[in-house]
Amino acid sequence: MSEAAVKSDEKPVEKEIVLSVNNIEVVYDEVILVLRGISLDVPKGELVTLLGPNGAGKSTTLKAISGLLKTEDGEVTRGTIEFKGESIANSSPDEIVRKGIFQVMEGRRIIEDMTVIENLRLGAYTRRDKGIKDDIEKVFHYFPRLKERTGMAGYLSGGEQQMLAIGRAIMARPEMILLDEPSMGLSPLLVKEVFGIIRNINKEQGITMLLVEQNANMALHSANYGYVMESGKIVLDGTGEELLNNEDMKEFYLAGGESERKSFKNLKSYKRRKRWM
Ligand SMILES: Nc1ncnc2c1ncn2[C@@H]1O[C@H](COP(=O)(O)OP(=O)(O)O)[C@@H](O)[C@H]1O
Ligand SMILES: [Mg+2]
Repeated sequence: MSEAAVKSDEKPVEKEIVLSVNNIEVVYDEVILVLRGISLDVPKGELVTLLGPNGAGKSTTLKAISGLLKTEDGEVTRGTIEFKGESIANSSPDEIVRKGIFQVMEGRRIIEDMTVIENLRLGAYTRRDKGIKDDIEKVFHYFPRLKERTGMAGYLSGGEQQMLAIGRAIMARPEMILLDEPSMGLSPLLVKEVFGIIRNINKEQGITMLLVEQNANMALHSANYGYVMESGKIVLDGTGEELLNNEDMKEFYLAGGESERKSFKNLKSYKRRKRWM
């Protein structure tokens, strides 16, 4: 503790929590319980990642926050979701966008028969100000290769479509972006590039981010804090560094690829990891 901290009567500076999810349960079709008490906090301006195997409930968590759950007959049946101290659980997706949260959905839902600029303008649909043109330039600053693509967005590569989906989110001038598996289907090199840009946008634009990923290694290197979920529950959380050094994380999520040791000891964990993919 520093001297100043000892002398002062004040409490240590607490982070401003912009999004707070408290013990939520989510049910689909009135019967299928998918989230079994999820809690997580996202401090203002930080990048928090939510990790976990396929089917864990990561996308459901994001949809509960963005309100998109409603469009899939899902409902938050217990717990609270607060954005800047205000309850948003079961609000409409439109209301939530207006409050400042924008979700980039899994699988890059861009409009294929529109141009890049038309897609970007769609992201600004809630805005009435005159800064839209400047913001298109801002998107091109982060993703220069999008500027060169003048045809229909359907002709963009997978990586470019992901960039466009993120660019469209920026166009809404959100306080917070929810990103669902931006690395999906991209080459390792491109994943690195996209994550670097996401981190820059987070830092330079001050946009708070909640990033869902299966690519734990990459996500934890970019994130301030991470949560790991399995079967609708949070099983582990910690700073990016803590999770990168955690033994269970190393065994189940972080090994693999080229660094995977082909020893017998790893066979068990390999099998278990396979189940998660
Ligand atoms: N619209 C839906 N209706 C019913 N069940 C769903 C729906 N969407 C997802 N699920 C189920 O909820 C669980 C979690 O799914 P999801 O949130 O997509 O997981 P993740 O994103 O972690 O892969 C899965 O078992 C999935 O089958
Ligand atoms: Mg998902």
